[in-house]
Amino acid sequence: MKTQVAIVGAGPAGLLLSHLLHLEGVASVVLESRSREEIEATIRAGVLEQGTVDLLEQSGVGERMKREGFVHEGIYLRFAGRSHRIALTELTGRAITVYAQHEVIKDLVAARLAAGGTLLFGVKDAALYDLDSTAPKTRFHWNGKVHEIESDFVAGCDGFHGISRPSIPSRHRHEFTRSYPFGWFGILVEAPPSTDELIYAHHERGFALVSTRSPQIQRLYFQCDPQDEVKNWPDARIWEELHTRLATGEGWTLGEGRIFQKGIIAMRSFVVEPMRYGRLFLAGDAAHIVPPTGAKGLNLAVNDVRVLAEAFGSFYKTKNQALLESYSSTALKRVWRAEHFSWWMTSMLHRFHDDTPFQHRIQLAELDYIVSSRAKAITLAENYVG
Ligand code: FAD
Ligand code: DHB
Repeated sequence: MKTQVAIVGAGPAGLLLSHLLHLEGVASVVLESRSREEIEATIRAGVLEQGTVDLLEQSGVGERMKREGFVHEGIYLRFAGRSHRIALTELTGRAITVYAQHEVIKDLVAARLAAGGTLLFGVKDAALYDLDSTAPKTRFHWNGKVHEIESDFVAGCDGFHGISRPSIPSRHRHEFTRSYPFGWFGILVEAPPSTDELIYAHHERGFALVSTRSPQIQRLYFQCDPQDEVKNWPDARIWEELHTRLATGEGWTLGEGRIFQKGIIAMRSFVVEPMRYGRLFLAGDAAHIVPPTGAKGLNLAVNDVRVLAEAFGSFYKTKNQALLESYSSTALKRVWRAEHFSWWMTSMLHRFHDDTPFQHRIQLAELDYIVSSRAKAITLAENYVG
């Protein structure tokens, strides 16, 4: 097989890149190790920055998101038993949209297939060769046979555990990592919303987050031990923990319902520099991870491929490599902004096991500052909306 850009991974980064390249008149093939059913059912992110929403709309894949997504103009910070609204739109002129990542995936898969795009699901043992030549190759097993794609470029969009990043010789990779001594326990619940906007809660027992998916389905998270197991958390224990961490003296109550999905998520910060080696370009979680507290991961993936699609488009139109050359430094600027914001939100809202009463008070002092200073509130808001 031959194509212009071989894309490894059909997550938001890979699928959107393929879609944007198609609009630029550039051919691509997407290789995905999982099945279509699996990628369309994996529960992950939910918050889209306005820039993400605008790009999906402008590129013709935003119709269902506009209909079914929820525009939120604020979030709540809850601490010391009280809620404080951060008026995102009033402070920045922008808003966020709550629309599940797997719905974005469904919309992108449908758009690629409708346009005759090549998406290969269930690909095994993908491996990259000749990345430092002008004809990189991607070899893989598919439908019981070995296949090879020769392309002009390879886009590594295969997430944190993919094969693209490790295909870069280690001496060309500078990696920056921080792991956190906690994870998130996430649940999906059949219940009406308990709040009109997301609640980020600081509590001495640990962080909690109330989000939503639809008028019938709610998404909740709470900080947990990353080594803990789902089986240790029967429904009654989950509700008790959430009620405790979200309690206010303001008469608010958390509505319960049937919990139909549970999972534990690890938290880490990670960046690889540069996001390119020869003809391999990394995008999304393959190049960087943020803890989910700032809701940035999916939005960063979208920003990477926006920049990358434009660079490929410009290369094929003009043979000029300037945008490809600057891809990594352009993308990394936003990546490090989001790394800082996500680390900041995480540090401010979670309980660390070596916390002293002093650190707890420092967290509260910072939260108090955000909700009493317009300047500090804008700092949070402009980062949150992107
Ligand atoms: P992925 O979505 O990981 O996609 C990579 C794809 O590559 C996968 O489909 C995988 O199967 C495939 N693949 C892997 N290896 C191979 C291989 N060897 N060969 C072929 N295919 C391969 N971000 C936000 O912006 N907002 C949020 O609110 C938010 N909340 C989150 C909540 C949770 C619980 C989690 C876990 C994440 C959250 N994130 C959030 C982060 C967001 O989900 C990720 O940043 C996003 O999925 C990154 O997209 P991606 O396309 O780079 O990678
Ligand atoms: C969701 C996930 C996040 O990481 C976040 O910060 C806010 C909302 C969600 O899944 O809805």
